[in-house]
Amino acid sequence: MKKIKVGVIGCGMVASSYLNTLQKFAHVEFGACADLMQERAVQVAAEYGFQRACSVDELLAGDDSDLVLNLTIPAVHCEVNLAILASGKHVYSEKPLAIKLAEAQQVLAKAKEKGLRVGCAPDTFLAGAQQHCRQLVERGAIGRPVAAFGAVSGHGPDAYHANPHFFYEEGAGPMLDQGVYVITALLPLFGRVKTVSARAQIGVTDRTVLTEQRFGEKIDIKTPTHLVCALEYEEGGMANLMISWEIWASKLPNMELYGTAGTMRLPHWNNYQSDFDLFTTEEGGGDWQNIETDRPYVGGSYRGLGMAEMAAAIIADRPHRASGARANHVLDIMEGLVRSAREDKPIEMTTPYDRPELFAENVQEGEIDHLL
Ligand SMILES: NC(=O)c1ccc[n+]([C@@H]2O[C@H](COP(=O)([O-])OP(=O)(O)OC[C@H]3O[C@@H](n4cnc5c(N)ncnc54)[C@H](O)[C@@H]3O)[C@@H](O)[C@H]2O)c1
Repeated sequence: MKKIKVGVIGCGMVASSYLNTLQKFAHVEFGACADLMQERAVQVAAEYGFQRACSVDELLAGDDSDLVLNLTIPAVHCEVNLAILASGKHVYSEKPLAIKLAEAQQVLAKAKEKGLRVGCAPDTFLAGAQQHCRQLVERGAIGRPVAAFGAVSGHGPDAYHANPHFFYEEGAGPMLDQGVYVITALLPLFGRVKTVSARAQIGVTDRTVLTEQRFGEKIDIKTPTHLVCALEYEEGGMANLMISWEIWASKLPNMELYGTAGTMRLPHWNNYQSDFDLFTTEEGGGDWQNIETDRPYVGGSYRGLGMAEMAAAIIADRPHRASGARANHVLDIMEGLVRSAREDKPIEMTTPYDRPELFAENVQEGEIDHLL
């Protein structure tokens, strides 16, 4: 079997989630890994069997990575993505692709110039239950989708992340860090977004780090932490989203989809939950049914599935699903929402979006379709 050699830049907290997933796929092998903090790369290399731990420059100069995973912090995503492409390697980036739309477009332009690919998180829209929901919707299970609701209702990473400061920089915050999942999950169901509008605030103004290493450090907040948003889709339908890190507890649903003949309570936007709820006006006699999907990639963490799919797409020479173009549209939406609140007006989207293909129904764990 042809294999894709994967490199990693940024061996921090989220790296193990990706590598635990990637190591399940026979068409992926580990090449080199790098971090500004050399000891982190050494530890990841030893734990996951990378051929070498090295500096970023050494990784980019080497030929033991065809596709490089960028797990650095958002503020440097763009420069690292550009450097990976300049070195002649494909890139799969953590979200956001860049913190500004204009920078993300530079990344896509560089990839085009070099004949390389860009992929980007989140990939939860490829999880089994999300794929199952989309198929039911396309088969008319709830009639025509007309509206959706999505909520990020948390209190931010102050209590669980060792270094939460970067989450409050411009280009992060609840919108770019977690709103990104909700927006991405709804896109395959509704298609391209046409216009966005929002109101926003920094309501909780005093934040300190609550984890051990930097306990008590004051956090400087440079981005809105509570946003109320409206998205209007080109093909019809709208979504209202509440994206907040100002909420200690909530019983709101994470995401719901409303159709002309029913409602779907969608799986959580940030995990690989195996079930969802369906209410139809026909079957089920007006009752809710809980549906446990039989699709793979549920029940644990499969962060990195989008990259495994991208590696398979490179081998099969077909488009990959967690694409840079989609991440660019999502960034257009997120930037537009923050701007809409700041400038007090609706914002028209300028970027394209095409729905990716659904996974084949017969795919098993450890497989990607077209590469069975
Ligand atoms: N931690 C999570 O639960 C989580 C979940 C989903 C997504 N993410 C995203 O993953 C990315 C990384 O998050 P994390 O939690 O692992 O952060 P982290 O701070 O734990 O790790 C980031 C790593 O990148 C390294 N780094 C920074 N700049 C670099 C550069 N220029 N070159 C090489 N290495 C560099 C740092 O030394 C650090 O080891 C972020 O974009 C974050 O939004 C994190």
